[in-house]
Amino acid sequence: MEFKAQDIRIFSPATVANVSCGFDVLGFCLDTIGDEMVVNTTPKKGIHITKIEGFDLPFETHKNVAGVSAKALVESLNLDFGFEIEIHKKIMPGSGIGSSAASAAGSVFAINELLGKPFNKTELTKFAMKGEAIASQAEHADNLAPAIFGGFTLVRSLKPLEILEIPAPDNLFATIIHPQIEIKTADARAMLPKHIPMENAIAQWANLGSLIHAMHTSDYELLKRSLHDAVVEPYRSQLIPHFHEVKNTALNAGALGSGISGSGPSIFVLSEGLETAKKVETAIRKVYKATTIAYETHVSKINIQGMKVL
Ligand code: HSE
Repeated sequence: MEFKAQDIRIFSPATVANVSCGFDVLGFCLDTIGDEMVVNTTPKKGIHITKIEGFDLPFETHKNVAGVSAKALVESLNLDFGFEIEIHKKIMPGSGIGSSAASAAGSVFAINELLGKPFNKTELTKFAMKGEAIASQAEHADNLAPAIFGGFTLVRSLKPLEILEIPAPDNLFATIIHPQIEIKTADARAMLPKHIPMENAIAQWANLGSLIHAMHTSDYELLKRSLHDAVVEPYRSQLIPHFHEVKNTALNAGALGSGISGSGPSIFVLSEGLETAKKVETAIRKVYKATTIAYETHVSKINIQGMKVL
């Protein structure tokens, strides 16, 4: 392929991974928060990060998740030219709503568009996993897959990578509250036990199976009964101040369920209808308002499209 001057601006959405009972496999895509990236071709081979706005992140390609994933894609092809990447970071790193995934997925999505889409979404996820791995020290795709595919996704297998798109009921809304403390995914993974009791495993796969069924049948009551985490939440919730208070407040305000978003500290809430999602937002803001912890909230419809060209 020969050099041709081109550029593109894209939106790379935030995502919620785990969704209570789907640790490391389930995730969904948000539409009111995400990063923007501008990528252009350059005669100079390789990947060059030229601008980073919003947060302090490394410019060295091999240390930057967007750079590492883009490099993996470019090295799989024989190109006589390279790419320059500008990152306009809006998702705070360590927030639990897929900040590193948005960077890792955004660069490969943009480059794929500029190249005329030689790769499918699963292949893009594979390249993006190389970038995500340097942020969390582990390979997982539960934030990447919903960012790239949109909607709800289930990662059935990593080797080989198999991603299922799960339908979401039309009237499902997410409320996110982000207490501004940082939890590193690597630390939140290191604290988890290597083995879990059989009874917890049974509860977890029963809930995950029924949650997927609820999504297919738009059964909000079943969705509500399924949104429980017997495996991870009991450990990680200790890292998030007022977690149980937020969760109970959300449920009392009419939410279907609530849990830790990814590895935290953000907490996600799912509700039927925008009105309830907003009522939940008002209620849970009061929990942190009564403390000295700074916080941010977002209300979002499930983003069916995922990444988009701006
Ligand atoms: N499934 C991952 C975790 C998502 O909870 O550790 C965070 O990147």
